[in-house]
Amino acid sequence: MNQGENLVQALASQYMVDFFIDRPFERLLPRCWQEFFSSLGNESIIEFCDPSRTPSHLNQPQPLGLLALRVLASSLSTARVHVGRPEDLLSLFEINEKSDELMPDFSLSLSIELKRKIKAKKLHEIERILEVIRCARLKSQFENVVDIGAGVGHLTRAISMSLPVRVHSIEGNEKLVSAARKLDSKFSSLLVSDESTWIKPERKAEYVSLNAETKIPGEDAGVCLVGVHACGDLSSTIIRMFTKHPQITCLILFGCCYHKLNAGADKLYQQKWGKCAETMDCNIETLGYPLSNGLTSSFTYAARELACYAREQYMASEDFDIRQQIFRALLEWIVVRSTIDQLNGPVRHLPFHGVSASANLEFGSYIHEMLKPYPELLEPVKNTLSSMDLDIDDFVKRSTSSFLSILALRIMIAPLIESCIVDDRVQYIRDAGHSAISFPLFNSVVSPRNICIAAFKKL
Ligand SMILES: C[S@@+](CC[C@H](N)C(=O)[O-])C[C@H]1O[C@@H](n2cnc3c(N)ncnc32)[C@H](O)[C@@H]1O
Repeated sequence: MNQGENLVQALASQYMVDFFIDRPFERLLPRCWQEFFSSLGNESIIEFCDPSRTPSHLNQPQPLGLLALRVLASSLSTARVHVGRPEDLLSLFEINEKSDELMPDFSLSLSIELKRKIKAKKLHEIERILEVIRCARLKSQFENVVDIGAGVGHLTRAISMSLPVRVHSIEGNEKLVSAARKLDSKFSSLLVSDESTWIKPERKAEYVSLNAETKIPGEDAGVCLVGVHACGDLSSTIIRMFTKHPQITCLILFGCCYHKLNAGADKLYQQKWGKCAETMDCNIETLGYPLSNGLTSSFTYAARELACYAREQYMASEDFDIRQQIFRALLEWIVVRSTIDQLNGPVRHLPFHGVSASANLEFGSYIHEMLKPYPELLEPVKNTLSSMDLDIDDFVKRSTSSFLSILALRIMIAPLIESCIVDDRVQYIRDAGHSAISFPLFNSVVSPRNICIAAFKKL
């Protein structure tokens, strides 16, 4: 591993909640980076760490290594700007057809009743996935579409209403399957005139797993396997199914919740304070990451969690309240100092309910609110705080620039980590002798987990 890779790994693995314990600004960043960031205002730090923006009003020299990281973070990541034009989609799939006949406006073809029930984000995803499946049918032979982890089945309903294929869904959560069936019946009765022609999706309640040898429906006539926001190891299971079953000719996959890969078993401190996030597929043989042989290093839980951040939304969201985040990190530091002598080691990363640290909330009141579920910690924390003799407002003010620099750098490299995880999946499919590409399909502002893996069996 080289120095740059080390820094990326270290930054990605740095929990912001441990900022005052680990001191990453001083520990990880070269001195010239520290001086550069300290010379910038808060807005300029955010602007500099956003490769899609051109930093303005920068009179001071910019450290070369930092500039290189900024360029690499964007050039080595899958583009965030989605493939919007039908002709671009066709050319990605290496299909020489005219786009206008192939890409009717699907927003028109979906029934008004169906659209009314679906949130804008989901509708956008469905319309784009319909386009991709339509393209895929020009490249690969399949009469069936099987959506795994289908939720309440909006996508499968839309496919069955728009394309001449048989549609099946497999979803582990029985309640969601039952809700999907109810929605099917509702639409069936709403679409009175089409009722005779609409063939409802076939829905199965089952948790797929390689060990359980899930039977894929429709295998006699070719299958396109679909997984949308297939969280954690489900994506890896779907990929393995694609490589294993000869009748699955095509795969369309969007991952999410990368931190849950390998059952999220490497989450720090969870052994003390919580259970394994996903208890399924903890078997070593079905670990979901890394998949390909070529990968020499892999990302930690914290780094994989970072890969789920979306700059476009994070910066505008409540999570970006910097005072709130500094309060949380300060509380962590104090909790650790208060419990350092405990037999089992200090208390770390307790799950807290969020308390909004509005501009006028005092840190003392914040602590009271946050520690309500842990009354035994209140006195030790208060004692430690008073022994530290901190002027909180001054502390927050003095910490903001370095805290923001680390946070902004982490968000800058987040797409790089997601791309590495996606590339690992693409490489695994290619290593198995099939063709695979990845590209952004959704508008990242509408739906941030927007990278589509499309794979085909070579005919
Ligand atoms: C993030 S949701 C996505 C739902 C839907 N595809 C969408 O895009 O709205 C993931 C879904 O996968 C289901 N799921 C997770 N693991 C599964 C498994 N091994 N087999 C089948 N379904 C699974 C969950 O119950 C959940 O409904």
